[in-house]
Amino acid sequence: MPSASGAVFDHLQQLRAEIEAHNRRYYVDDAPIISDAQYDQLMVELQAIEQAHPDWVTPDSPTQRVGAAPLSHFQPVHHAVRMLSLANAFTAEDIQAFDERVSAALAESGLLAAATEAPDTVTGQAAQAGQADLFPPAAAAAPGVAYMAEYKFDGLAVSLRYEAGRLAQAATRGDGADGEDITANIRTLRSVPLRLLGEAPAVLEVRGEVLMARADFTRLNDAQVARGDKPFVNPRNAAAGSLRQLDPRVTATRPLRFYAYGWGQVQDAAGRALQPRATHADMLDWLAAFGFAVSPGRTLCHGADALLRFYEQVGAARAGLPYGIDGVVYKVNDLRAQAVLGFVARAPRFAIAHKFPAQEETTRLLGIDVQVGRTGALTPVARLQPVFVGGVTVTNATLHNEDEIHRKDVRIGDTVVVRRAGDVIPEVVGPVLDLRPADARPFDLAAACPVCPECGSAVERPEGEAITRCTGGLFCPAQRKQTLWHAASRKALDIDGLGDKLIEQLVDGGRVRTLADLYGLGELELSTYPRMGLKSAQNLVREIDRSRRPSLSRLLYALGIRHVGETTARDIARHFGSLQAVLQASEDDFLQVPDVGPVVAASIHRFFAEAHNREVVAALQAAGVEPQAEAALAGDKPLAGKTLVLTGTLPTLSRDEATRLVLAAGGKVSGSVSRKTAWVVAGEEAGSKLVKAQELGVPVLDEAGLQALLGGG
Ligand code: IVH
Repeated sequence: MPSASGAVFDHLQQLRAEIEAHNRRYYVDDAPIISDAQYDQLMVELQAIEQAHPDWVTPDSPTQRVGAAPLSHFQPVHHAVRMLSLANAFTAEDIQAFDERVSAALAESGLLAAATEAPDTVTGQAAQAGQADLFPPAAAAAPGVAYMAEYKFDGLAVSLRYEAGRLAQAATRGDGADGEDITANIRTLRSVPLRLLGEAPAVLEVRGEVLMARADFTRLNDAQVARGDKPFVNPRNAAAGSLRQLDPRVTATRPLRFYAYGWGQVQDAAGRALQPRATHADMLDWLAAFGFAVSPGRTLCHGADALLRFYEQVGAARAGLPYGIDGVVYKVNDLRAQAVLGFVARAPRFAIAHKFPAQEETTRLLGIDVQVGRTGALTPVARLQPVFVGGVTVTNATLHNEDEIHRKDVRIGDTVVVRRAGDVIPEVVGPVLDLRPADARPFDLAAACPVCPECGSAVERPEGEAITRCTGGLFCPAQRKQTLWHAASRKALDIDGLGDKLIEQLVDGGRVRTLADLYGLGELELSTYPRMGLKSAQNLVREIDRSRRPSLSRLLYALGIRHVGETTARDIARHFGSLQAVLQASEDDFLQVPDVGPVVAASIHRFFAEAHNREVVAALQAAGVEPQAEAALAGDKPLAGKTLVLTGTLPTLSRDEATRLVLAAGGKVSGSVSRKTAWVVAGEEAGSKLVKAQELGVPVLDEAGLQALLGGG
């Protein structure tokens, strides 16, 4: 090669190495050091050289990641080493039993000591992350079997075969024995090295998971929808769909990542099996050195207790991870021990998957019911074949609104994906189109509910709005119940003990029509309701009584005015200072409130202009409900959230006066002492409550102490 072109050739090789190094920084280390534009510039430079010297183009050049022609179908691939699956565990007992099985089998084969030995260094990412000491052996004498604990990635298993350091073939898992050749698609993943770094064995099969990060998924779906394409149901489906593309140019546009967690065949040039490292942890580090992103979060744990701690920690951190995981995996670290433990059926005995309660499951959509909300919104609710998801059995899930149903193309009779993550309300994510029966029926809200299903009033769906509403207002019992439930809720009047069931009975029986009717309920009457003893009836009446002194903002919020959430209620209360002023305000006056725009102002004004709402407010006032000016309370509720007990005779304050002061300061007064009591205020002749306070270690104050709490000196 002439020297001038020799220099160009050197530059080309340097560019390729540089580009792959940036790929690793971006996709493996998650720490890019150049901008996308700078990266593109390097690619342009490389392409220019390759165009001028087509004979220099090699398959492992970064320019060759995309480019293969579309396939008509995927070729079958026989796995040189079977791709196994894992046995699943769900409970702590399952894990203890697993650890006992492993320990017993290793004891029998004389490998227990070797398998429990704490290696003198913990390697890999766990050590880098300073996690080496997170899960130390429980006791020096009995450290327990050493396991590598890893995330169980929620993606698709693939096997990458490298021959002489170059990516030769990539395959799906298939049935474990035979998969499909997806080499052209896998080549487009920039986290997959086309060429291994360093000294590679003759054959190396790297196994791991292809997945899509949640943020990438959201971005991809937004783009799908913007283009008029159907969104994907979840990141796993999106990843699977992307790998199934026959045209690798499509896969290239999908943000997929690969994380390695294992290996298949490893051979030297003579075809002999190699085992270059003695532990799983060291094997993973060995793989990392070739340029792979390897099982982030992996941690060495000794014994079942440490595994369970890992499970708890990862479970708590799960929502914050950039990608979905559906559990964790534990693998015996010592490779000789792994070999001795061997396999049963298709799963190894040396490893187990400890699953989190699934956050997504599929089930049948049996029907769509319509519920009426507080503001009259007709809300479609999915009636489901019961399914265990997110730790509970779900029979209903929200479908949000009619447009959502059509956007997702959910039909009655479909198999649907149901999601329940944490404490959120279960929702129908979307249909599994492959399983749609011929007789699946689209849902039509107007046909299902020509009038309100609860009260028969007309329904309307204003132009440009997604929601159909019942026009019946408080005539509609469903809206009445929801209104009461909302008014009693913690951020509103905070009436403890007024639950859904009781509200339902009070409304259905005609005893309570509006919020004001609550204030006429007596102990004896309430105690006749099912599951209401005299004691709980008394407590409820006390709670209702207490709610006669809400802050103005809580009362405004409690009224359930459309568009008036907590913050707006507070803004309005601060601005007007009294209920009277709010009642007299014009629409323009409401517009003067900071952060209140025309829609909100109109809504509030309309609410107070309506005769029946004014009647309710008047009835509340007649029942002694007297909101406290915000200024008097603003930021100055020294007893907020505290419960006090008064006992004995105080020197200057009567029981009523003391109670009022405590309530005004945001506190509650209770008749009995418990561990939840913040203080007991005791006067002359205090009796058993004082004794109880001392027993439970509840602080006891005299009147001066109470005054000090109230800020009165
Ligand atoms: S090891 C010999 N490790 O889980 C054991 N699998 O249920 C082979 N998976 O098909 C698997 N994360 O798709 C292993 N850290 C991890 C994993 C993992 C996810 C998947 C993999 C496998 C399935 C088995």
